Amino acid sequence: MDITFINVGYGESILITENDPDAENGAFVMLIDGGSAMNSEYTGESGRIRAYDYLKKRNIDHIDLLVFSHVHEDHVCGLVPVVSGIPVRKYWASIRLKDEVIGKQIGDLETLSETNKKMLSSINAYSSLIEKIPADEIEYLDGIKENYFKNDCFSIDILGPEKSYKKTVEASLTNVFAADDANALNKALTETTEMMNNASLILRINCCGKSVLLGADTNSEGFKALVRDHPELMKADVFKIGHHGQADSVNEELLRAADPSIVVCCASNDYRNNSSNEKTFETIKRTLGRNVTYLFQDGLYAEQWNPDISPRNDVTVHIDETGISIKLQCINN
Ligand SMILES: [Fe+2]
Repeated sequence: MDITFINVGYGESILITENDPDAENGAFVMLIDGGSAMNSEYTGESGRIRAYDYLKKRNIDHIDLLVFSHVHEDHVCGLVPVVSGIPVRKYWASIRLKDEVIGKQIGDLETLSETNKKMLSSINAYSSLIEKIPADEIEYLDGIKENYFKNDCFSIDILGPEKSYKKTVEASLTNVFAADDANALNKALTETTEMMNNASLILRINCCGKSVLLGADTNSEGFKALVRDHPELMKADVFKIGHHGQADSVNEELLRAADPSIVVCCASNDYRNNSSNEKTFETIKRTLGRNVTYLFQDGLYAEQWNPDISPRNDVTVHIDETGISIKLQCINN
């Protein structure tokens, strides 16, 4: 199995592929999120690439399972061209929109703060994406469901979000659609964007006796109940830390429960929004107290800095019967 972290800059887009003779063209393909749609995210010599462009370069011609982890611009907006351009068999999502707002678009962008403009663009994108998807092709997931998906090669546990918390976030999203003036819209957007991270879908993927924990933007607070009540489900050889490695992404309890040997951080190389935070890596080193491989989605290693390696389009964690290995850049430029 290959788990590829695409270099979409500050956002997140994770491609999972596995040879499977029963799947279309011999490969099972899963995509979690699609990064940002903003032009500014992809300029310069950063190695960044839009998820759709990356998938086309990899000749990905179908997606068996596409996951909308949560509704934020840096996760959902890059999926718009993916859903239009590549056939998708099945969808998983965390956030469920009320039927009456599916397809609805909210305007009045001029009066909003930059953060709220981004939040609104993600809600509009998500609303129009959900409208295009037949209801029987999408599942809305939360709570804990072990072995929810299983094939010959790997299994997936659903570990979150916590259901009642997610309902609160969905209610907040409903307030966005119900807002009847700019103040109400700004207020509802601010509340929703702040709460949204911990409504992310949390998945643990198990393959060949190894586990990979992927919680999108779930931070240490969002993992708290899981760590307390089900630490046995948290063990992960590979942990893609939440919320782009910001200071709230991990704490000691979470790290002790996951106990990874590889930590992946999906953050832009400009440390925007205090991502890849120094405190985060100090906490990891202090808590795990042994050799841990730190990876960024541009293929750079935080701990074994090699100035000869320029930012790549991706980094891949490969898992098979022989163990775990790391591959830099799966596409040819
Ligand atoms: Fe994010």
